[in-house]
Amino acid sequence: MGPLPAPHDIPLPLPVSPLFLELAIVFLFLIHILFVALMLGGSLLTVAFEIRGRRRPDCDVLAREIAATVTVSKSLAVVLGVGPLLVMNVFYTVFFYSANALTGAAWLAVIPLVTAAFLLTYLHKYTWDRLAGAKGLHIAIGALASALFLVVPFVFLTNINLMLFPDRWTSVHGFLTALVLPNVVPRYLHFVTASVALTGLFLMAYFGRAGFPAEEVFREFDRRALRRRFASVALGATGLQLLFGPLLFFTLPAVGISWALILNILAGVSLAIVAIVLLTREVVAPGARLGVRYLATATALTGTVVFMAYGRHLYRESALAPQRTAIAARTAEFEETVLAAQMRAKAGIRHTKAEAATSPGEQVFRSICSACHARDTRLVGPPLTEIDRIYKGNPAGLIAWVKAPGKKRPDYPQMPAIKLTPAQYQAVAEFVLAVPGTS
Ligand code: HEC
Repeated sequence: MGPLPAPHDIPLPLPVSPLFLELAIVFLFLIHILFVALMLGGSLLTVAFEIRGRRRPDCDVLAREIAATVTVSKSLAVVLGVGPLLVMNVFYTVFFYSANALTGAAWLAVIPLVTAAFLLTYLHKYTWDRLAGAKGLHIAIGALASALFLVVPFVFLTNINLMLFPDRWTSVHGFLTALVLPNVVPRYLHFVTASVALTGLFLMAYFGRAGFPAEEVFREFDRRALRRRFASVALGATGLQLLFGPLLFFTLPAVGISWALILNILAGVSLAIVAIVLLTREVVAPGARLGVRYLATATALTGTVVFMAYGRHLYRESALAPQRTAIAARTAEFEETVLAAQMRAKAGIRHTKAEAATSPGEQVFRSICSACHARDTRLVGPPLTEIDRIYKGNPAGLIAWVKAPGKKRPDYPQMPAIKLTPAQYQAVAEFVLAVPGTS
């Protein structure tokens, strides 16, 4: 693990208890992601059935019926996305901000991408009849919307994932480098597959519902055939998770793995296996009604999702714990400095005795350099221990650098030139080279 960048947090109290925020984020995220899943899965299934519909008219009708649900899911997905986003901002301020800043361009691109995806979805939905003679074009519009729906969660997921690994922040420059984290792609596959599984489960109920006039809508499909079809979609996707799930687990960086997490995952997996058994029975021997078996399947998969969502939270909390501590320490230090300065200002004192006693070099260092350099940890710039090794006995060299810094280390940003009086340059150079324990 690399060094942890630990900026200070915004020293404001949380508006409610942390426990409340933790529960809120798990719950709000769950209902948001449920509709994201239905939107994404619905959009993918629409395209798949519309393509089949070129040979089988019933499949085209089916695609159109599914498309009608996608715009509803997408509206709910977006509105319900505001909740988790707000809680993230309050509860994971520094982490979330850092990840957003590091993936900046891609993160902002979410807005035009989502806008385009929505407009295309409506265009697709409302041109079904008009473009009946140009089916290829119509399918292409739907496929483009689906492709955008696939990209947006990928950006979100990469961002949220990057947030968990502060030790990688210093080596990430933009979205593409954030993808290098080993668990990003498995996490994404796991999510897309889960979306298809949930959509299958939803469509089983949607087309199997009592009032659905299947005989009037379709030529051949009846409610039972539809239910069976979506049971196999749900079954296939859930089965695939037995592959993507372990792939994700074994690519997760070890920092956040705990027994609590493993137990959560095992509980989730057990329930998924129950669902797989029930869905298999639904496919080979569909029940007469959408009854007990469906309810049991839906309950089992809901349980899986809740366990996985809670596991996700546990992982995040333990992955962030070391940096949380570092940030808390840094924030406390910051608050102390601010408080002391405020008290001095109130009392009309410019320097405390202790500060007056500090050398001019130390004063320059504290007020300017310490924003980026610490004694033995990497901040924005290298630690003093490293600097001292380079410039021991050579304050002039150090001064020359500070006046006109070069670009030396590929994995650091450029240091800005710092303007000081000649006496200050000399003083800070002497101070930096004399910090105890640095060489
Ligand atoms: C805004 C952040 C920032 C501030 C403020 C800053 N530095 Fe730096 N410093 C850096 C970075 C980043 C590097 C690494 C640059 C590189 O390797 O290209 C660096 C590198 C250095 C080095 C190493 C040069 C070398 O040859 O390896 C020295 C010495 C140094 N800084 C001294 C200072 C002193 C003294 C001050 C205060 C007067 C100061 N820095 C203020 C960011 C900063």
